[in-house]
Amino acid sequence: MLSPGDTTADLDAGQLVSLLEWYSAMGIDLALDAEPHDRFAEAAAAATAPAPAPRVATQEGPAQATAPRQRPALTAPPVARPGLDAAALSAEEAAQTARELARTAASLDDLRALMEAFDGCALKRTASRLCFADGNPQARIMLVGEAPGGDEDRQGVPFVGRAGQLLDRMLGAIGLGRSDVYIANVVPWRPPGNRTPTPQETAVCLPFIRRQIELVGPQMLVCLGAASMQTLLGVKEGITRARGKWTTYAPEGGTEVRAIATLHPAYLLRTPSAKRFVWRDLREIKKGLG
Ligand code: URA
Repeated sequence: MLSPGDTTADLDAGQLVSLLEWYSAMGIDLALDAEPHDRFAEAAAAATAPAPAPRVATQEGPAQATAPRQRPALTAPPVARPGLDAAALSAEEAAQTARELARTAASLDDLRALMEAFDGCALKRTASRLCFADGNPQARIMLVGEAPGGDEDRQGVPFVGRAGQLLDRMLGAIGLGRSDVYIANVVPWRPPGNRTPTPQETAVCLPFIRRQIELVGPQMLVCLGAASMQTLLGVKEGITRARGKWTTYAPEGGTEVRAIATLHPAYLLRTPSAKRFVWRDLREIKKGLG
């Protein structure tokens, strides 16, 4: 039995295990540091400290001590420089850097390498690895989910957990396997505790998934869930109304791609009665593939 004021040093092994199990059940399944941090105190101290001179050169010229928060230059090496980190860049600056970098990727391998080295998204710090894609880059159909969960984060492959297993069964129902599709996520790093990515995190990652879609060049895009639909297709309606309707995805400067949204398999795990809607969407997708 724990008493108020107990610290972990007062606990025996069994109590520690129970505490960890409780944390895990509450969704706290990630240790960021051995010691707690008072982020409010850190932020207050940073606000009163004199502004440090920027550590990186800017596109406009060499580093300027009087111009804080200049966007980093894109000259080689383009990423993973000491000055480019999520804490130092605003979301807008990081998104702009991501846009410029993504454009330079001539292949999926290039893109993966750029993303591995990109430090502009804070999620990368807590994720254990990049979760880039699975399936066949030559596939006619590309599926895009929201963000990796714990299983995906451990394996570095999208949709391998329970939702992924259901997705495999859904695809199987219309005769498709992983080698017939290409699968990625809007956000390729796991948000801690599987929380929803913030709009800023999504904005920073958006140029990468857009470039990924361009490089794959699918004939059909399937958005899995509301977040993917709203981000990629700009649909404002809720997923329950907008699912199953054909629309188009417009890549930058490329040919439009037929697109459709369906319910996310994780939602179906919680709401099995909604599977009947997805069955209709799957038949639409099969028809669309001819
Ligand atoms: N949910 C997603 O949106 N993507 C994954 O890869 C796994 C679960």
